[in-house]
Amino acid sequence: MTDITPHGSQPAKLGHSPVADVPHALRVADTDPRAAKRAERQVASMFLLSMILVVAFIVSFIMIDKDTVVYIPVFGVVGLMTIMLGLTSGLSIFLIGAGAIQWAKKLMPDVEVVQMRHEMTSPADATAEAAANYERGKDESGFARYPIIRRTLIGAMALFPIPAVFLLRDLWSGGESGIESPDEILSHTLWRENMHILVAETGQKIRPEDLPVGGLVSAVPANLAEEQERAGNQDALGKAAIILVRMEPSEIVAQQGDGWDYQGIVAYSKICTHVGCPIALYEQRTHHLLCPCHQSTFDLANAGAVVFGPAARNMPQLPITVDNEGYLVATADFAQPVGPSFWERG
Ligand code: FES
Repeated sequence: MTDITPHGSQPAKLGHSPVADVPHALRVADTDPRAAKRAERQVASMFLLSMILVVAFIVSFIMIDKDTVVYIPVFGVVGLMTIMLGLTSGLSIFLIGAGAIQWAKKLMPDVEVVQMRHEMTSPADATAEAAANYERGKDESGFARYPIIRRTLIGAMALFPIPAVFLLRDLWSGGESGIESPDEILSHTLWRENMHILVAETGQKIRPEDLPVGGLVSAVPANLAEEQERAGNQDALGKAAIILVRMEPSEIVAQQGDGWDYQGIVAYSKICTHVGCPIALYEQRTHHLLCPCHQSTFDLANAGAVVFGPAARNMPQLPITVDNEGYLVATADFAQPVGPSFWERG
Protein backbone atom coordinates (compact mmCIF):
# COMPACT_ATOMS: atom_id res chain seq x y z
CA MET A 1 0.00 0.00 0.00
CA THR A 2 1.20 3.46 -0.78
CA ASP A 3 0.24 5.93 1.85
CA ILE A 4 0.67 9.54 0.93
CA THR A 5 -0.29 11.97 3.62
CA PRO A 6 1.29 15.25 4.58
CA HIS A 7 3.33 14.86 7.77
CA GLY A 8 2.96 11.07 7.80
CA SER A 9 -0.37 10.22 9.33
CA GLN A 10 -0.99 13.79 10.42
CA PRO A 11 -2.83 16.40 8.37
CA ALA A 12 -0.74 19.01 6.55
CA LYS A 13 0.27 21.85 8.81
CA LEU A 14 2.12 25.03 7.96
CA GLY A 15 5.06 26.03 10.08
CA HIS A 16 6.36 22.59 11.09
CA SER A 17 8.83 20.23 9.46
CA PRO A 18 8.38 16.52 10.25
CA VAL A 19 11.49 15.61 8.21
CA ALA A 20 14.03 17.64 10.10
CA ASP A 21 12.99 18.43 13.60
CA VAL A 22 13.51 22.15 13.19
CA PRO A 23 11.07 25.02 12.90
CA HIS A 24 9.76 25.49 9.42
CA ALA A 25 10.65 28.86 7.87
CA LEU A 26 7.55 30.59 6.57
CA ARG A 27 7.75 32.51 3.30
CA VAL A 28 6.94 36.20 3.08
CA ALA A 29 3.79 35.41 1.11
CA ASP A 30 2.60 33.11 3.92
CA THR A 31 2.44 35.93 6.42
CA ASP A 32 2.08 39.13 4.39
CA PRO A 33 -1.10 39.43 2.26
CA ARG A 34 0.49 42.25 0.26
CA ALA A 35 3.44 40.04 -0.66
CA ALA A 36 1.01 37.31 -1.69
CA LYS A 37 -0.84 39.80 -3.88
CA ARG A 38 2.46 40.91 -5.39
CA ALA A 39 3.37 37.32 -6.19
CA GLU A 40 -0.04 36.80 -7.75
CA ARG A 41 0.52 39.78 -10.05
CA GLN A 42 4.00 38.52 -10.99
CA VAL A 43 2.65 35.13 -12.00
CA ALA A 44 -0.24 36.60 -13.95
CA SER A 45 2.14 39.01 -15.73
CA MET A 46 4.26 36.09 -16.94
CA PHE A 47 1.25 34.28 -18.35
CA LEU A 48 0.04 37.52 -19.93
CA LEU A 49 3.44 38.18 -21.50
CA SER A 50 3.41 34.65 -22.87
CA MET A 51 0.16 35.44 -24.67
CA ILE A 52 1.62 38.66 -26.09
CA LEU A 53 4.63 36.72 -27.40
CA VAL A 54 2.35 34.29 -29.22
CA VAL A 55 0.73 37.27 -30.92
CA ALA A 56 4.23 38.57 -31.77
CA PHE A 57 5.04 35.15 -33.26
CA ILE A 58 2.01 35.36 -35.54
CA VAL A 59 2.80 38.94 -36.57
CA SER A 60 6.44 37.96 -37.32
CA PHE A 61 5.30 35.02 -39.39
CA ILE A 62 2.98 37.17 -41.47
CA MET A 63 4.93 40.45 -41.72
CA ILE A 64 8.59 39.48 -42.03
CA ASP A 65 9.90 38.65 -45.49
CA LYS A 66 11.44 35.19 -45.33
CA ASP A 67 14.48 36.43 -47.30
CA THR A 68 15.29 39.25 -44.84
CA VAL A 69 18.58 38.58 -43.08
CA VAL A 70 20.41 40.24 -40.19
CA TYR A 71 23.98 40.00 -38.99
CA ILE A 72 24.47 38.69 -35.45
CA PRO A 73 28.00 38.50 -34.01
CA VAL A 74 29.18 34.91 -33.51
CA PHE A 75 26.26 33.46 -35.53
CA GLY A 76 26.89 35.52 -38.69
CA VAL A 77 24.15 36.20 -41.23
CA VAL A 78 20.83 34.61 -40.22
CA GLY A 79 17.23 34.94 -41.35
CA LEU A 80 15.27 37.55 -39.38
CA MET A 81 12.11 35.44 -39.46
CA THR A 82 13.95 32.45 -38.04
CA ILE A 83 15.28 34.57 -35.17
CA MET A 84 11.91 36.11 -34.38
CA LEU A 85 9.97 32.83 -34.52
CA GLY A 86 12.51 31.14 -32.30
CA LEU A 87 12.63 33.97 -29.77
CA THR A 88 8.89 34.49 -29.48
CA SER A 89 7.90 30.82 -29.30
CA GLY A 90 10.81 29.98 -26.96
CA LEU A 91 10.11 32.86 -24.59
CA SER A 92 6.36 32.19 -24.55
CA ILE A 93 6.81 28.60 -23.34
CA PHE A 94 9.56 29.72 -20.95
CA LEU A 95 7.23 32.26 -19.33
CA ILE A 96 4.49 29.67 -18.84
CA GLY A 97 7.02 27.44 -17.08
CA ALA A 98 8.52 30.30 -15.06
CA GLY A 99 5.05 31.49 -14.01
CA ALA A 100 4.09 28.00 -12.88
CA ILE A 101 7.29 27.73 -10.82
CA GLN A 102 6.72 31.12 -9.22
CA TRP A 103 3.17 30.12 -8.42
CA ALA A 104 4.30 26.93 -6.75
CA LYS A 105 7.18 28.53 -4.85
CA LYS A 106 5.41 31.62 -3.57
CA LEU A 107 1.71 30.86 -3.31
CA MET A 108 1.02 27.14 -3.07
CA PRO A 109 1.16 25.60 0.43
CA ASP A 110 4.70 25.11 1.64
CA VAL A 111 4.57 21.88 3.61
CA GLU A 112 6.79 18.82 3.77
CA VAL A 113 5.23 15.53 2.79
CA VAL A 114 6.19 12.09 4.05
CA GLN A 115 5.45 9.22 1.70
CA MET A 116 5.24 5.78 3.32
CA ARG A 117 5.84 2.95 0.86
CA HIS A 118 4.33 -0.46 1.45
CA GLU A 119 2.83 -2.84 -1.09
CA MET A 120 2.70 -1.91 -4.76
CA THR A 121 -0.96 -2.74 -5.18
CA SER A 122 -3.58 -0.16 -4.29
CA PRO A 123 -6.63 -1.38 -2.38
CA ALA A 124 -9.89 0.45 -2.62
CA ASP A 125 -9.35 2.53 0.48
CA ALA A 126 -5.97 3.72 -0.83
CA THR A 127 -7.54 4.68 -4.14
CA ALA A 128 -10.22 6.58 -2.28
CA GLU A 129 -7.55 8.27 -0.22
CA ALA A 130 -5.64 9.21 -3.38
CA ALA A 131 -8.79 10.73 -4.81
CA ALA A 132 -9.29 12.65 -1.59
CA ASN A 133 -5.67 13.80 -1.69
CA TYR A 134 -6.17 14.94 -5.27
CA GLU A 135 -9.21 16.96 -4.28
CA ARG A 136 -7.35 18.44 -1.34
CA GLY A 137 -4.37 19.26 -3.57
CA LYS A 138 -6.68 20.98 -5.99
CA ASP A 139 -8.01 23.14 -3.17
CA GLU A 140 -4.57 23.81 -1.74
CA SER A 141 -3.10 24.80 -5.10
CA GLY A 142 -5.40 27.79 -5.09
CA PHE A 143 -6.68 27.13 -8.58
CA ALA A 144 -10.10 28.29 -7.46
CA ARG A 145 -8.77 30.90 -5.06
CA TYR A 146 -6.74 32.89 -7.61
CA PRO A 147 -9.08 33.52 -10.54
CA ILE A 148 -6.73 35.95 -12.29
CA ILE A 149 -3.94 33.36 -12.33
CA ARG A 150 -6.33 30.66 -13.43
CA ARG A 151 -7.67 32.73 -16.31
CA THR A 152 -4.31 33.97 -17.54
CA LEU A 153 -2.87 30.45 -17.35
CA ILE A 154 -5.80 29.06 -19.34
CA GLY A 155 -5.34 31.89 -21.85
CA ALA A 156 -1.61 31.25 -22.17
CA MET A 157 -2.09 27.49 -22.55
CA ALA A 158 -4.85 28.01 -25.12
CA LEU A 159 -2.70 30.29 -27.28
CA PHE A 160 0.53 28.35 -26.95
CA PRO A 161 -0.26 25.67 -29.61
CA ILE A 162 -0.96 28.34 -32.23
CA PRO A 163 2.69 28.71 -33.38
CA ALA A 164 2.77 24.99 -34.14
CA VAL A 165 -0.32 25.39 -36.32
CA PHE A 166 1.42 28.14 -38.29
CA LEU A 167 4.55 26.07 -38.75
CA LEU A 168 2.67 22.92 -39.75
CA ARG A 169 0.60 24.98 -42.15
CA ASP A 170 3.67 25.15 -44.41
CA LEU A 171 3.45 21.39 -44.91
CA TRP A 172 0.07 21.35 -46.55
CA SER A 173 -0.76 24.87 -47.75
CA GLY A 174 -0.84 25.49 -51.45
CA GLY A 175 -0.43 28.44 -53.77
CA GLU A 176 -3.78 29.98 -52.84
CA SER A 177 -2.49 30.97 -49.41
CA GLY A 178 0.66 32.46 -50.94
CA ILE A 179 2.84 29.83 -49.25
CA GLU A 180 4.28 27.16 -51.48
CA SER A 181 3.94 23.53 -50.49
CA PRO A 182 7.16 21.45 -50.31
CA ASP A 183 6.67 19.81 -53.70
CA GLU A 184 6.18 23.25 -55.29
CA ILE A 185 9.29 24.62 -53.61
CA LEU A 186 11.35 21.64 -54.77
CA SER A 187 9.84 21.66 -58.26
CA HIS A 188 11.66 24.72 -59.50
CA THR A 189 15.40 25.32 -59.36
CA LEU A 190 17.82 27.72 -61.04
CA TRP A 191 18.06 25.50 -64.10
CA ARG A 192 16.34 26.71 -67.25
CA GLU A 193 16.86 26.68 -71.01
CA ASN A 194 20.41 27.64 -72.12
CA MET A 195 21.70 27.88 -68.52
CA HIS A 196 25.42 27.06 -68.66
CA ILE A 197 26.68 24.16 -66.58
CA LEU A 198 29.73 25.08 -64.46
CA VAL A 199 32.17 22.73 -62.77
CA ALA A 200 31.42 23.12 -59.04
CA GLU A 201 35.06 23.34 -57.91
CA THR A 202 36.38 25.74 -60.56
CA GLY A 203 33.32 27.67 -61.73
CA GLN A 204 34.40 27.02 -65.35
CA LYS A 205 32.08 26.13 -68.22
CA ILE A 206 32.50 22.62 -69.44
CA ARG A 207 32.62 21.08 -72.93
CA PRO A 208 31.66 17.46 -73.68
CA GLU A 209 35.27 16.63 -74.56
CA ASP A 210 36.36 17.66 -71.04
CA LEU A 211 34.51 14.68 -69.59
CA PRO A 212 35.90 11.24 -70.53
CA VAL A 213 33.73 8.11 -70.68
CA GLY A 214 33.39 6.80 -67.11
CA GLY A 215 34.06 10.23 -65.65
CA LEU A 216 31.92 12.15 -63.14
CA VAL A 217 31.92 15.83 -62.28
CA SER A 218 29.86 17.84 -59.78
CA ALA A 219 28.30 20.89 -61.39
CA VAL A 220 26.13 23.92 -60.68
CA PRO A 221 24.16 26.45 -62.78
CA ALA A 222 25.96 29.58 -63.98
CA ASN A 223 23.65 31.92 -62.05
CA LEU A 224 24.19 30.21 -58.71
CA ALA A 225 26.67 32.72 -57.22
CA GLU A 226 24.41 35.62 -58.14
CA GLU A 227 21.39 33.93 -56.54
CA GLN A 228 23.30 33.06 -53.36
CA GLU A 229 24.46 36.66 -53.07
CA ARG A 230 20.88 37.85 -53.47
CA ALA A 231 19.33 35.34 -51.07
CA GLY A 232 22.16 35.25 -48.55
CA ASN A 233 21.84 31.50 -48.10
CA GLN A 234 22.63 28.12 -49.68
CA ASP A 235 19.06 27.12 -50.54
CA ALA A 236 19.55 27.41 -54.30
CA LEU A 237 22.65 25.18 -54.21
CA GLY A 238 20.74 22.59 -52.20
CA LYS A 239 18.23 22.27 -55.03
CA ALA A 240 20.33 22.86 -58.16
CA ALA A 241 23.48 20.78 -57.50
CA ILE A 242 23.95 18.10 -60.18
CA ILE A 243 26.41 15.47 -61.29
CA LEU A 244 27.45 14.91 -64.89
CA VAL A 245 28.37 11.37 -65.86
CA ARG A 246 29.59 10.15 -69.21
CA MET A 247 28.97 6.66 -70.59
CA GLU A 248 28.81 5.17 -74.06
CA PRO A 249 25.48 6.22 -75.66
CA SER A 250 24.79 2.54 -76.36
CA GLU A 251 24.94 1.81 -72.61
CA ILE A 252 21.99 4.10 -71.87
CA VAL A 253 18.94 1.88 -71.33
CA ALA A 254 16.37 4.58 -70.56
CA GLN A 255 16.10 8.24 -69.64
CA GLN A 256 13.39 10.39 -68.13
CA GLY A 257 12.91 12.16 -71.48
CA ASP A 258 13.86 11.53 -75.10
CA GLY A 259 17.34 12.76 -75.96
CA TRP A 260 18.03 14.22 -72.54
CA ASP A 261 21.68 13.15 -72.76
CA TYR A 262 24.36 14.72 -74.92
CA GLN A 263 26.53 12.11 -76.63
CA GLY A 264 26.29 9.83 -73.59
CA ILE A 265 26.64 12.60 -70.98
CA VAL A 266 23.72 12.51 -68.54
CA ALA A 267 22.96 15.01 -65.79
CA TYR A 268 21.18 14.04 -62.57
CA SER A 269 20.35 15.82 -59.35
CA LYS A 270 23.02 15.36 -56.72
CA ILE A 271 20.51 15.29 -53.86
CA CYS A 272 19.30 11.87 -52.72
CA THR A 273 15.54 11.35 -52.99
CA HIS A 274 15.50 9.56 -49.63
CA VAL A 275 16.30 12.28 -47.09
CA GLY A 276 18.50 14.57 -49.14
CA CYS A 277 22.17 13.63 -48.70
CA PRO A 278 24.48 14.85 -51.48
CA ILE A 279 25.77 11.96 -53.56
CA ALA A 280 28.91 11.55 -55.68
CA LEU A 281 29.87 7.86 -55.23
CA TYR A 282 29.70 6.48 -58.75
CA GLU A 283 30.51 2.97 -59.90
CA GLN A 284 31.66 3.32 -63.50
CA ARG A 285 31.14 -0.32 -64.55
CA THR A 286 27.52 -0.66 -63.35
CA HIS A 287 26.60 3.04 -63.72
CA HIS A 288 25.30 2.89 -60.15
CA LEU A 289 25.24 5.98 -57.95
CA LEU A 290 25.47 5.09 -54.24
CA CYS A 291 24.21 7.32 -51.43
CA PRO A 292 26.59 7.11 -48.43
CA CYS A 293 23.85 7.88 -45.90
CA HIS A 294 21.56 4.84 -46.14
CA GLN A 295 22.92 3.05 -49.22
CA SER A 296 20.18 3.94 -51.69
CA THR A 297 21.51 3.07 -55.13
CA PHE A 298 20.38 4.63 -58.42
CA ASP A 299 21.01 3.31 -61.93
CA LEU A 300 22.06 6.32 -64.03
CA ALA A 301 21.97 4.24 -67.24
CA ASN A 302 18.31 3.45 -66.55
CA ALA A 303 16.56 6.77 -65.89
CA GLY A 304 18.05 7.07 -62.38
CA ALA A 305 15.93 4.14 -61.17
CA VAL A 306 16.25 2.98 -57.55
CA VAL A 307 17.92 -0.44 -57.53
CA PHE A 308 18.53 -0.70 -53.78
CA GLY A 309 17.85 1.05 -50.50
CA PRO A 310 15.12 3.15 -48.91
CA ALA A 311 14.75 5.86 -51.59
CA ALA A 312 11.22 5.79 -53.01
CA ARG A 313 11.67 7.46 -56.38
CA ASN A 314 14.15 7.94 -59.23
CA MET A 315 16.93 10.48 -59.11
CA PRO A 316 15.58 13.48 -61.10
CA GLN A 317 17.30 13.95 -64.48
CA LEU A 318 18.23 17.31 -66.03
CA PRO A 319 17.91 17.56 -69.84
CA ILE A 320 21.11 18.94 -71.43
CA THR A 321 22.66 19.87 -74.78
CA VAL A 322 25.42 22.25 -75.99
CA ASP A 323 25.23 25.93 -77.01
CA ASN A 324 26.63 27.47 -80.21
CA GLU A 325 30.13 27.54 -78.72
CA GLY A 326 30.02 23.89 -77.71
CA TYR A 327 29.54 24.38 -73.94
CA LEU A 328 27.12 22.17 -72.05
CA VAL A 329 23.84 23.86 -71.10
CA ALA A 330 20.50 22.76 -69.66
CA THR A 331 17.48 22.71 -71.97
CA ALA A 332 14.94 23.07 -69.14
CA ASP A 333 14.48 22.73 -65.38
CA PHE A 334 14.03 19.31 -63.75
CA ALA A 335 10.73 17.72 -64.71
CA GLN A 336 10.07 16.50 -61.15
CA PRO A 337 10.83 17.80 -57.64
CA VAL A 338 14.38 17.34 -56.43
CA GLY A 339 15.47 16.18 -53.01
CA PRO A 340 13.82 14.14 -50.27
CA SER A 341 10.30 12.76 -50.63
CA PHE A 342 9.10 13.01 -47.02
CA TRP A 343 6.00 14.81 -48.22
CA GLU A 344 3.22 13.29 -50.29
CA ARG A 345 3.20 14.45 -53.85
CA GLY A 346 -0.24 15.20 -55.26
S1 FES B 1 19.68 10.00 -47.83
FE1 FES B 1 20.33 8.73 -49.41
S2 FES B 1 19.77 6.80 -48.81
FE2 FES B 1 19.07 8.02 -47.21
